[in-house]
Amino acid sequence: MSIYGITRRMAFPLAVLTLTGALVAAPADPKATRQASFKKMGAAMKVIKEQIAGGSPAKPAMLAAAQTVATTAKQQGALFPAGSGAGTDALPAIWTQRATFDAQMAKLVAESAKLVTAVNGGNVDAIGAQFKVVGGTCAGCHKQFRADN
Ligand code: HEC
Repeated sequence: MSIYGITRRMAFPLAVLTLTGALVAAPADPKATRQASFKKMGAAMKVIKEQIAGGSPAKPAMLAAAQTVATTAKQQGALFPAGSGAGTDALPAIWTQRATFDAQMAKLVAESAKLVTAVNGGNVDAIGAQFKVVGGTCAGCHKQFRADN
């Protein structure tokens, strides 16, 4: 009986928290969503890398991939709500140095948008240079905020 009472008291605030989280922004499972999105960005970066390495890059493939990175990056920041680090490679520093983390994510948004512009421009050297900048942005954040990389 008393165990049931405790469970009910605890369940209520949890339910409220979940509801509030859903209303504010996040999908039901921000961890799985952000990880899937990072994978998607990783695959898109690989497409661009291979196109450049292949010597005669195909613009449609690179454009689609660059757009994937640019649009996906915009959604990532909101997928790191406080307390969502446990059981993931997201380091606690994300939440103790949130402004730095957010700035790095903003940098990815800006630089990946420039990559879309570069691909549209069609100059392979410029695309390669901006690809490196974007890749450096990924690596810079991982070094600081991602475990196991
Ligand atoms: C602002 C910080 C930040 C930036 C920028 C960033 N990442 Fe990450 N990335 C993370 C963190 C933190 C994790 C760990 C997430 C987790 O485990 O929940 C991660 C995880 C990943 C993973 C592993 C996902 C999984 O669980 O399998 C891949 C792949 C990845 N990132 C690719 C990229 C690529 C590609 C870019 C650039 C286009 C990028 N990331 C930019 C912070 C960042």
